[in-house]
Amino acid sequence: MTIVRDGDTAGGLREEAAPSAPGSFRTVYWVGDAVAGRLRMIDQTLLPNRCVEIDCEDVESVWGAIKRLSVRGAPAIGVAAAFGAVIGARTADSDDPAAIREALRTAAAHLRTSRPTAVNLFWALDRMEAAADAAIREPRGPLLDRLLDEARAIAEEDRAMCRAIGRFGAELIDEGDGVLTHCNAGGLATADYGTALAVIFTAHELGKAPRVFADETRPLLQGARLTAWELVNRGVDVTLICDNMAAQVMKEGKIRKVVVGADRIAANGDAANKIGTYGVALLAKAHGVPFYVAAPSSTFDLTLADGSGIPIEERDPREVTEGFGLRTAPEGVAVYNPAFDVTPAELIAGIITERGVISPVDAASVRAMIGKPAAGS
Ligand code: MRU
Repeated sequence: MTIVRDGDTAGGLREEAAPSAPGSFRTVYWVGDAVAGRLRMIDQTLLPNRCVEIDCEDVESVWGAIKRLSVRGAPAIGVAAAFGAVIGARTADSDDPAAIREALRTAAAHLRTSRPTAVNLFWALDRMEAAADAAIREPRGPLLDRLLDEARAIAEEDRAMCRAIGRFGAELIDEGDGVLTHCNAGGLATADYGTALAVIFTAHELGKAPRVFADETRPLLQGARLTAWELVNRGVDVTLICDNMAAQVMKEGKIRKVVVGADRIAANGDAANKIGTYGVALLAKAHGVPFYVAAPSSTFDLTLADGSGIPIEERDPREVTEGFGLRTAPEGVAVYNPAFDVTPAELIAGIITERGVISPVDAASVRAMIGKPAAGS
């Protein structure tokens, strides 16, 4: 990769001339040490046409990257925010650990306002604040090192969780299954490998030859731009459809399973995911197709009894009226642009986690799998 231009998000932009080889890209990672290092990520707003990395060296750049979806997908947002907390901690104007702790608190409070729905953002920042509390007696250098270790651990654990989700989920996929997915829950949405796409990648690697249908996912086209890119790069059989074609494709018998990701899952299994997911779940029920959610334990919010309390992000109307620069609606039209919806637990055949598959999906099963520490932790 070569640096192609300076960006307003900080140190510079790096560009790959061609799409990445299968699995070769790194979604979001840290470069350098805790004191002088930086957060590096693929700018997903430019995919699939350009694969550009951007660097973030201040909290505002990290906030902006999350807000405009340069980094997106629940687990990847959490990883980016964790590294953003390291950046925030080191902005303290004194070496006093209490000042560093306060700088981290201020940064975390700001990062918490970037996007409301994915609970992984809040989960990761809570972990960073707890790590700072535990190391509060350390001098500046070791304290920052400890924070960077924690952020790296969050990324590493996410990688491992994705692999485990892939293994559990692939058991649900039969030879040659048509599998529908919505939005992007792949390597670009996580530290590596994905959740819903981990299921598909693992089934593919096991020789089950899944045939994937990817909803394009209006209005920001994460399915067309990101999921299709990842699947094509890995040599998985993928067919792109517009969101409003899913019913017809199911009626034609081409879909045997639906697998999607999640941004926040309540204690009873109600699951928030990209807008349109609820509609897909209803279609799946109408056509007798099992609908699965794939998500790590970090995506569960057990403080919410059901999905009615999940905050739904509302985004800029221009994403609907002039997405990607082309105006497609008249000036002055009213627009409603919720970015997520909530699929009720009763429509979900199973939630594929790194600990196993939750099925049936109800409060008791969620509590049995998630409402206790993971084995070995
Ligand atoms: O708005 P986005 O692109 O961040 O929405 C992403 C999704 O809805 C994903 O399906 C979800 O975060 C799961 S990612 C493993």
